[in-house]
Amino acid sequence: MRTAVYPGSFDPITLGHLDVLGRAAGVFDRVVVAVLANPRKAPDGAADDRIAAIVEAVAEALPDLASRIEVHSFDGLTVDACRASGARHIVRGLRAVSDFEAELQMAHMNHRLAPDIDTVFFMTAMEYGYLSSSLVKEIARLGGDVSAMVPAGVAARLRASAEGSPRL
Ligand code: PNS
Repeated sequence: MRTAVYPGSFDPITLGHLDVLGRAAGVFDRVVVAVLANPRKAPDGAADDRIAAIVEAVAEALPDLASRIEVHSFDGLTVDACRASGARHIVRGLRAVSDFEAELQMAHMNHRLAPDIDTVFFMTAMEYGYLSSSLVKEIARLGGDVSAMVPAGVAARLRASAEGSPRL
């Protein structure tokens, strides 16, 4: 069984992430979405909430693949999360050339830490190439419509939290 780990902050998951996840599940038998509990930038969503949003989005958008997708949190090295899941591959999405440098560095570093683990990149679909979780959050906070950028449940939660907090 070929297992891959798809690590990230997913704060929150976007349709770009879902696109990469769906395509990874087309290549690997099992994909473990590894949600970094404490990313460098303090997350807006607790790990449990980010996981719940991913599970819900997978059930809605990728029902045929859901049985082969797991979602867990982790809080150490990505390569250790791979070992814990029995994965020999890390999945990452590339949106544009601007992503490449940091991703290349991470892929080399992870390969240095664990030579038996390789990183596989999927080009994010063109229609989602402009998306980022932080931009989505900013737009939602300022009252913009993010329903074409994130799964429906995430859009609803962002809308509710924007309505509940004053726009400064
Ligand atoms: O969604 P993000 O924020 O781009 O994901 C970044 C992530 C989680 C993949 C990266 O920060 C990471 O792998 N963190 C775990 C700690 C680690 O393994 N660091 C060394 C990577 S070279």
